[in-house]
Amino acid sequence: MAQVKALSKEWANSADLPCHVVNMLNTFPSNLHPMAQFSAAITALNTESMFAKGYSEGVHKTKYWELCLEDSMDLIAKLPTVAATIYHNLYRDGTSIGAIDPDKDWSANFTSMLGYDDPQFTELMRLYLTIHSDHEGGNVSAHTTHLVGSALSDPYLCFAAGMCGLAGPLHGLANQEVLKWVTKLRAEIGDDITEDQLKEFIWKTLKSGQVVPGYGHAVLRKTDPRYTCQQEFALKHLPDDKLFKLVAKLYNVVPPILTELGKVKNPWPNVDAQSGVLLQYYGMTEMNYYTVLFGLSRALGVLSSLVWDRALGLPIERPKSMSTEELKKLVGA
Ligand code: MLT
Repeated sequence: MAQVKALSKEWANSADLPCHVVNMLNTFPSNLHPMAQFSAAITALNTESMFAKGYSEGVHKTKYWELCLEDSMDLIAKLPTVAATIYHNLYRDGTSIGAIDPDKDWSANFTSMLGYDDPQFTELMRLYLTIHSDHEGGNVSAHTTHLVGSALSDPYLCFAAGMCGLAGPLHGLANQEVLKWVTKLRAEIGDDITEDQLKEFIWKTLKSGQVVPGYGHAVLRKTDPRYTCQQEFALKHLPDDKLFKLVAKLYNVVPPILTELGKVKNPWPNVDAQSGVLLQYYGMTEMNYYTVLFGLSRALGVLSSLVWDRALGLPIERPKSMSTEELKKLVGA
C-alpha cells in the first residue's frame, strides 16, 4: 500500500504538461479524431525526453534502460492530463480540467479531471485501466512500440507510434465499433428483442460482408477474461441495464452462428464486446473517445516492456529480406 501511495504521488507530481503541448491541444480542430490528437500530443512531449538527451550526450548503453524508465514514468504521469484536455476540448467546450490532487490515485485523478464524480465510475476506471494494459506483447500497439524502440527512438516517439496502431478499427477502435453496431441494432428492432430477431440481424451483418464487432481474437481461443471481469462488474452494479442485458443475450446467440460459418477460429467475445456498455451506463456517451481510454491503459504494459527491451539490449528489428530468386524457389516458379 505504501508503494502504491508513493507511486501515485510521484505520477501526480509530474502530471503537468509543457505549454507548447497545451497550446497545441487547444488549437486542434474538433474534427481531428481524439486518437490523432492523443498521438500528436505524445510525439510533441518528446521535448521532455531524458533518453533522447542522454543519447545525444553519449551516455553509456548500459544506462539506456534507466533513462527509458524515467521517460516512461513521466509519460504515464502526463497521459491522463493529455487525455482529459482532449475530452474537455471536444465535449465540454474547452472548460478547465481542474487541478491534480497528489493524494489521489492515477485513475481517481483522471476521472476527476474528466469531470466525473461518481466513485463507482472511478472504480470502473481502475478496472478498465488495469485490464487493457496488455496481454502478451504481440498485438499491433505493443509490437509497434517495441519495433520503433528497437531503433532507439525515445519512449515518447515509440508510444505515439503504438497509439497510431491502436487507432485502427481492427485494433483499439473496435470498442467504438461494437457500440455503434449495438446502437444500430436497438434503433432497428427496439429493446424487446427476441433471439430470432437477433439471429436475423447477425446474419444480415455477416451477409453484408461485415464482421460482428467484439467477437473473435487473433490468439485467444476462449471467452476473453477481460470480457468476463467487466461482465462481473456489470452484474454487480448494473444488472438491469437494458444495454447490458442485450450484450448478455448476444453471448448466447453470436458464438453458435460464427461456429456455423465454419471459418472462425474463435467465436467468443473479446474485451471490446463489453467495455462500451459500461461507459455508456455512467454517462460517457462519446464513443469516439473510447480508444483514448484504451491507449491510456496500454501505456502501462507497453512502456514496461520497452524498459525491458533496453535493459536486455535488444537489437534493431528488421524482417528478413528475400531476393526474387529465393522467392521463386520458395513457390517453385
Ligand atoms: C489487445 O488487447 O490488443 C487485443 O486483444 C488485440 C490483440 O491482442 O491482438
